[in-house]
Amino acid sequence: MKNPLILNFKNYIEISGEKTIELAKSAEKVSIDLGVEVIVAPPQPSLWAVVQTVDIPVICQHLNDADVGSSTGYFVPEIAKSYGSIGSLINHSEHRIDIKSISNLVRRLKSLKMTSIVCARTPDEVAEVAKFDPDFVAIEPPELIGSGKAISKEAPQIISSSLTAVSDNSDLARMVCGAGIVDKSDVTKALELGASGILVASGIIKSGAWEEKISELASAFI
Ligand code: G3P
Repeated sequence: MKNPLILNFKNYIEISGEKTIELAKSAEKVSIDLGVEVIVAPPQPSLWAVVQTVDIPVICQHLNDADVGSSTGYFVPEIAKSYGSIGSLINHSEHRIDIKSISNLVRRLKSLKMTSIVCARTPDEVAEVAKFDPDFVAIEPPELIGSGKAISKEAPQIISSSLTAVSDNSDLARMVCGAGIVDKSDVTKALELGASGILVASGIIKSGAWEEKISELASAFI
């Protein structure tokens, strides 16, 4: 994964049931047509079905730092990998975990050769989690998530200071950004500011025209 467009399905009703597969297929079509890395993060229960259906990377929205074996109801990296997941978001603003669990999960994903994308709300948090050398750190100001006001336009300085925080604390991690991204110019600006990729949800899911909107955002990567 180098310059991803990461589509987080969250639990929006618009993607419930068969719609999850429909959205994943739209993402796959755009990825193939434009040659852009589109990564999908569907709801956990649909992981197996999505992996069986599309030929693009599928990641988890969240994983638990629980033991393999008798850990009822938790979802652990080793099982996610067995279902074909290539990685996971960790510590998303909407599903935060403690710093010890973040560090453990990054180490476990590394040992499983899975991609870790650790989310942070501020540049200070970016500095803290970058020390674990995840594959990516994702900066998302919570106040802009779902707002339709893009981080790249509303708070470009957060992207720049987060980039510095990553390079000051990790030789390996790259940075993606998200929150409020709804059109091509939002993505272009984020990439111009130095982000390696983007995280997006409502701008696509609420668009009513999934393939067109994914294509519009992905075209900024070309
Ligand atoms: O994980 C992506 C997400 O939090 C961004 O949400 O709806 O502002 O694109 P949204």
